[in-house]
Amino acid sequence: MIAYLDNAASTPPLPEVLAAVMHTMTDLYANPSSAHGLGAAAARALEQARSEVASLLRAQPAEIVFTSGGTEANALGLLGAAALARGRHMVVSAIEHPAVLRSAESLVSKGWQLSKVAPTPDGRVSAEAVLASLRPDTAVLAVMLANNELGTLQPVAEIGSALRTAGRKLHFHVDAVQFAGLIPLDVATLGADSLAISGHKLHGPKGTGALWLRKGARVAPLWDGGRQENGLRSGTENLPGWVGLGRAAALCQQDPQAGAKVAALRDRLEFLVVEAIPQATTTVPSATPRAPHIASLRLPGLPAEPLLHALEAKGVYASAGAACSTRTRGPSHVLAAMGIRDQDAVLRFSLSRLSTESDIKTAALALREAVDEIASVVEVRRRDPKP
Ligand SMILES: Cc1ncc(COP(=O)(O)O)c(C=O)c1O
Repeated sequence: MIAYLDNAASTPPLPEVLAAVMHTMTDLYANPSSAHGLGAAAARALEQARSEVASLLRAQPAEIVFTSGGTEANALGLLGAAALARGRHMVVSAIEHPAVLRSAESLVSKGWQLSKVAPTPDGRVSAEAVLASLRPDTAVLAVMLANNELGTLQPVAEIGSALRTAGRKLHFHVDAVQFAGLIPLDVATLGADSLAISGHKLHGPKGTGALWLRKGARVAPLWDGGRQENGLRSGTENLPGWVGLGRAAALCQQDPQAGAKVAALRDRLEFLVVEAIPQATTTVPSATPRAPHIASLRLPGLPAEPLLHALEAKGVYASAGAACSTRTRGPSHVLAAMGIRDQDAVLRFSLSRLSTESDIKTAALALREAVDEIASVVEVRRRDPKP
């Protein structure tokens, strides 16, 4: 039996999404910019998808810019705002996804100064610390809603409201890639200027995403061309992908209880693991405000990679910290920022609304067996180190 618990890396597209993509590829192949009837039909499908994404965020359709994914949406929000800014100082949380962090770092060679706000031991940045790092010349600020490695929620609305109260004129960008889909989201409550989402994290197609850009907020396009997407994203529209994203967004809204159901399964997984494996703990205290789908478990003194292989041999799919950090050696920047030693395995089990009680039981049992297997190898190596 397979237990796929790597949904923070990517979710399986739903059958309705696949059908919508297929229908669009088969029947709506015309260019939405073409002046004939087939083009108009494609343009209507595009606008329907835009309304569905807007509705997921409680936004206006005109505020949605489709992109090739969360990475591009973040780059457009961040770099697009920076291109129009007067100030040359940017503030980001130190636990942002590389899509934000590396975009921000890329500006340093262009004369920007960058301040990174460190997290507290519970994997969150404090609103006070973020606000304290703002300077008169701070032009762009980025804080994510839910961290992709730990699931911890960041105090975005608190920061947004403090910015509004203070009348600060800066561009506040929010990465909501790991938040949107399971918990109702209302962009008006955040006090943000732009927000990124990604299709493949909410059962939509890969290579799709969107930037919500508050009416009145401005970003410069990252490149020029045919000036699609209101001039902000040139290139013929990825109609099948974006229609699929729209369908996925609509399906999320049909299941408002999904977040609570997934959180209950996540809590059960953590309980079973901590009960069965004496050395296992949750990476952050379980009472920390968290997105419902991510369980981050810490196993002191054990190597992550062999554990993941042992889990896979038992049909359980998970990640070490975050999938994108498995390509780099050592602990991820998030775990390093929290002071977690690289001798400890930190495994991320991430659920979706398709996850079941049986997935959770399979994963907990497999992890206990994998820990026993790997711990005995580690013990033999410790007693009998190779010369
Ligand atoms: C928090 C966060 N932001 C951005 C991204 C990038 O999204 P995409 O894979 O759609 O480019 C990810 C993907 O893992 C993510 O978890």
